[in-house]
Amino acid sequence: MDTSPHINSFKPAKRILLGPGPSDVHQRVLDAMARPTVGHLDPQFCDMMEEMKTLLRYAFQTENELTFPLSAPGSIGMESCFVNLVEPGDKVIVCSNGVFGRRMAENVKRCRGELVLVEDAWGTAVDPQKLEDALQANPDTKLVAFVHAETSTGVESDVRLLTEIAHRHGALVIVDAVTSLTCIPLLVDEWGIDAIYSGSQKGLSCTPGLSPVSFGERAIAKIKQRSNAVQSWFMDLNLVMGYWSGEGKRTYHHTAPINALYGLHEALVMLAEEGLQARWARHRQNHLALVAGLEAMGLKLLVAEKSRLPQLNSVIVPDSIDEPRVRADMLNKHGIEIGAGLGDLAGKVFRIGLMGTSSSQENVAACLAALKSVLADRR
Ligand SMILES: Cc1ncc(COP(=O)(O)O)c(C=O)c1O
Repeated sequence: MDTSPHINSFKPAKRILLGPGPSDVHQRVLDAMARPTVGHLDPQFCDMMEEMKTLLRYAFQTENELTFPLSAPGSIGMESCFVNLVEPGDKVIVCSNGVFGRRMAENVKRCRGELVLVEDAWGTAVDPQKLEDALQANPDTKLVAFVHAETSTGVESDVRLLTEIAHRHGALVIVDAVTSLTCIPLLVDEWGIDAIYSGSQKGLSCTPGLSPVSFGERAIAKIKQRSNAVQSWFMDLNLVMGYWSGEGKRTYHHTAPINALYGLHEALVMLAEEGLQARWARHRQNHLALVAGLEAMGLKLLVAEKSRLPQLNSVIVPDSIDEPRVRADMLNKHGIEIGAGLGDLAGKVFRIGLMGTSSSQENVAACLAALKSVLADRR
């Protein structure tokens, strides 16, 4: 008896992705991913990996040798930073102003680090003075961690200043750049960031599932000096480095997601063609146009102008509006995905992302027109 399930190929509808990520993936990236799969130690593939490292160094603005994509989503970048850099008993300050700061704090606890949590209100930036005070009260702090672009609220924190404060007190920094990379200025070497991770599915507009990371010399020295082995075999950077190191010394660690890496390579080639400065300017311009349109409709943004992220706009849901119905109408009637509020902001904001390929004049116009019609129907 044939028991095989009769299920057809999955053919998703075309959407415009204006949520907190993933962003729209350009056809060039999708085409690159459809190219023939080669072996993950094939010399051609190894050459492509070297190019990828060069392109990622450009994206992060760093000369760090250890700059490469981890084979899993942004969360693995976060976990890899913590499991490698935090040893049991290490004191770690996490500055949290949203969902992803909280997640960093959870990582510290799971690594059996001693957590010092410095919290700021959701919708506001990390307060540098609070970090200064926490470091003065905890002079034995080894690491400071914070999020550059808090996706749950749409807030930018001042990475340059926070890093400078941490270094003045002898601590290394871990920075979450999942939603910031290529959308807003981020200068890893100039700002002296020690360890940083991102994701492929936001500013880079690649498919989700890869996590670009970069580690500076001080971070690598801390990892090499560990007194006990990293508890995760997969994330142990001492082992992963063997696969991503260049000069023909590459050894098997895990089977790389080959076609996904073709996609990231293409997304990075597109970044180099556009140029970082031009990309930052594009994000800013489209954000300003969106905000002008939203305000003209009488809508208000959650975040004060000076801390707003151009790539993630939290819009306050007007009273008497059924928030889930609005998002459902945007998707079902207009093919546009926007995001819901997370955690403390659930039901209180919509999150409109303009990231990477999704950040275009056409998308701003389409989003404003759709929102206007949906809100008129739902009032
Ligand atoms: C700031 C931030 N950090 C970490 C993550 C986790 O990334 P991923 O969902 O790719 O695992 C996200 C995802 O949205 C994020 O926005």
